[in-house]
Amino acid sequence: MAEKTAILKVGDKEVELPILSGSAGNDVIDVRALGSSGYFTFDPGFMATGSCESSITFIDGAKGVLLHRGYSIEDLARDADYIEVCYMLLHNKTPTSEEYADFKNTITRHTLVHDQLTNFFRGFRRDAHPMAMLCGTVGALSSFYHDDLDISDPEQRLRSAYRLVAKMPTLVAMCYKYNVGQPFVYPRNDLSYAENFLNMMFSVPAEDYEISPAVARAMDRIFTLHADHEQNASTSTVRLAGSSGANPYACIAAGVASLWGPAHGGANEACLNMLEEIGSVDRIPEFIARAKDKNDPFRLMGFGHRVYKNHDPRATVMRESCHEVLEEMNIDDPLLNVAMELEKIALNDPYFAEKKLFPNVDFYSGIILKAIGIPTNMFTCIFALARTVGWISHWHEMLSQPGQKIGRPRQLYTGETLRKYTPIKK
Ligand code: CMC
Repeated sequence: MAEKTAILKVGDKEVELPILSGSAGNDVIDVRALGSSGYFTFDPGFMATGSCESSITFIDGAKGVLLHRGYSIEDLARDADYIEVCYMLLHNKTPTSEEYADFKNTITRHTLVHDQLTNFFRGFRRDAHPMAMLCGTVGALSSFYHDDLDISDPEQRLRSAYRLVAKMPTLVAMCYKYNVGQPFVYPRNDLSYAENFLNMMFSVPAEDYEISPAVARAMDRIFTLHADHEQNASTSTVRLAGSSGANPYACIAAGVASLWGPAHGGANEACLNMLEEIGSVDRIPEFIARAKDKNDPFRLMGFGHRVYKNHDPRATVMRESCHEVLEEMNIDDPLLNVAMELEKIALNDPYFAEKKLFPNVDFYSGIILKAIGIPTNMFTCIFALARTVGWISHWHEMLSQPGQKIGRPRQLYTGETLRKYTPIKK
């Protein structure tokens, strides 16, 4: 029996449950034995459920702490680039210079997608949402690697991870190019990860795209700040899909689908749409009043978080980046004035303070992406691109753990009990 235990008393029956401690964060009551005693636990939104054991990312929501492999997001955003963060998430250590160079080279040399994949795009309407195209084409990647999908082989798993991290920028840029009717741009091996992405997005055959170092830096930071976030909805989706033994590309497609929703990754797009709907600073109070009205489903997009109840540490870094980029690019956009004023008003409003609703990472990332010239409907794709390394690290970790079981929750059944069936002809 574990050192600490919890006693659950139901009527005159007592069940002793082990309490498990991690290296940080809340202890967990291990309820696995409960099923055989005739009870399930009930926690539909996972408000108090630890779904797995993981050593990748730690969040202390009350203190606003986010650590990847033990390193603070502030340190990483300041001193590491996205490629280094990817290495750490996948390998649980910081790379030496040689390891870094080798990893960077591997990722760079996997960026091309099979030319046949371009034909998939032609099946989409020109105005298809880029997340719809991304979801489909990421899943379709599995059809190109039939001979390399043995998920019990750690080497094949890592190779899939490298392919996914490398090819996501290519696919995301292809989604954009398809939407705007421009030719796809091939990856360039002489550019950094962020520069290459920007080049595939914005260059056209007729003229080179000049990559601003400030924009490339901001892009890299956006990738870093979205790289992983513990057991959020999309990561849990990837884990659940992977728990059945599904291939990694299919699992990542499931993650993309889950991320799409406005309560999760779709918030950055929804936030910009909201700012457009607000339109001018003088209309902010009207929208604040709507957000507070219990009878109005409207929410301030880009505000609030399930776990962070003090501040979102990613938002703090992103806010700095946001101001830097706007200043450096000398941008004067009325929408950005609305965003800055909304931030000020909401932060001083007692409703938002009481409910601990602060701007989250997506509030600022949307503003930066807009400043860079990325269309609003592409925002969630960029989140998906950045989060792929987190998703695949969790998938790899899960499959490395001995005794891994298929994820199979139970339910509180509230439907009809057995009733007599009468055939329709009677
Ligand atoms: N605007 C107005 N009121 C809000 C908001 C908001 N953005 N978010 C939460 N509330 C209120 C909500 O009405 C509720 O009030 P009451 O207790 O009186 O019923 C209370 O705050 C708690 O809300 P909840 O929905 O129970 O909280 P949750 O932890 O289930 O939801 C959330 C978290 C992020 C889904 C929610 O805050 C939200 O919908 N925010 C807007 C969407 C958004 O920005 N999402 C991006 C999250 S960060 C990126 C990512 O990791 O995906």
